[in-house]
Amino acid sequence: MSTPANSTPYKVALIGCGRPWKTEGATGFGMAHRHMVGFANSGRCTLAAVVDLVRERGEEFVGVHNPQAAVYTDYIQMMEEVRPDIVSVCLWPKLHAEVVCKVASYRPKIILCEKPMDIHWDASLRMHEVCRARGVMLTINHQRRFNLPLAKAKALLDAGEIGALQRMEGAWNDIADSGSHVLDLFFFYNNDTDADWVLGQIDLSEPRIVFGMLHAGHGVSEIRFKNGVRAVFRFGKDHAENGCLLRLTGERGTIEILFDSPWLRIRRSGQAEWEIVDTGEHIHDDKAIYRAIAEMLDCLENGGVSQLDSSRALRATEVIFATHESSRRRARVDLPLPAGPCAMLSLVESGELKVGG
Ligand SMILES: NC(=O)c1ccc[n+]([C@@H]2O[C@H](COP(=O)([O-])OP(=O)(O)OC[C@H]3O[C@@H](n4cnc5c(N)ncnc54)[C@H](O)[C@@H]3O)[C@@H](O)[C@H]2O)c1
Repeated sequence: MSTPANSTPYKVALIGCGRPWKTEGATGFGMAHRHMVGFANSGRCTLAAVVDLVRERGEEFVGVHNPQAAVYTDYIQMMEEVRPDIVSVCLWPKLHAEVVCKVASYRPKIILCEKPMDIHWDASLRMHEVCRARGVMLTINHQRRFNLPLAKAKALLDAGEIGALQRMEGAWNDIADSGSHVLDLFFFYNNDTDADWVLGQIDLSEPRIVFGMLHAGHGVSEIRFKNGVRAVFRFGKDHAENGCLLRLTGERGTIEILFDSPWLRIRRSGQAEWEIVDTGEHIHDDKAIYRAIAEMLDCLENGGVSQLDSSRALRATEVIFATHESSRRRARVDLPLPAGPCAMLSLVESGELKVGG
């Protein structure tokens, strides 16, 4: 792991090591491993400590990334003893806000937390506010803003290739897990313009549990942004029927990001055929995480609001919970959404919404 000459590397700690995706005993994607490659590639960080409830996973992790790093099973003890500059929280969603808020009390420079922010809206707001109050930069890993095909789509839009943005469509498995990336990308393409209102519906007849979190098997969310742009997000089992992951419609053409290669294409008004735009990268490439981490460190050192900053992630997070709230109210939800628990989980707990067919 290289560090710049005459500078002290940032001490990094990761909470929740996991095991790399599809390896024996993996419980998820082992996102901590991916974060660590990003920290190492930055040349500005050194792995100081890791935490995992399962000590063996922590030991394996440091064996791969830095055998000198300390291994803990209790993150409070780790924060007390190590006082890292940067903490990555790679736990399942229901632990995010609780752990981020406790870690923030030690005032690290950055907390990079995996998406989604939390399983509740009030908890998501709290983790953002606590970090702000403590002077901690909180970033949420919506790294897809840095994937080349997705970033190239923004560059084409900004260059006026399809004229002013008018509408967006998106589709993915769920709204709150992988779907949080799509919602974040809506805001990315619309220059992080606030949304005015959300109209949504969810169906729990065929639910999914992802990283311990309940997700509707089918749903739809319509968003109106303050600049008049409209977006529709279709999520759930049949999402592929949308035909593409994202469709950006401008006054003079359309850009599409597809589920498979070719990843990006554009059709300007008057063009009969789609034009393929090859960036040499696919939309799931881990290089996006490495670029995101480098950008986050640049913002720490030079100022600026990271593309992963929690202030940006909150907009997408608000849409997730406003969609659930809209389904509960059977009405449009004007934003800002008042702080509160997830409406879908409240309905399930009260028995008003049945899970399963
Ligand atoms: N940004 C992305 O593209 C992307 C992709 C996949 C997953 N994720 C997100 O990353 C997060 C983590 O997922 P993952 O796949 O890395 O999980 P994982 O299951 O691979 O790893 C989680 C680890 O946390 C440990 N753990 C659980 N409770 C703990 C505690 N209290 N203290 C310390 N360790 C604890 C577990 O033992 C496990 O090893 C999720 O929120 C998920 O949505 C993001």
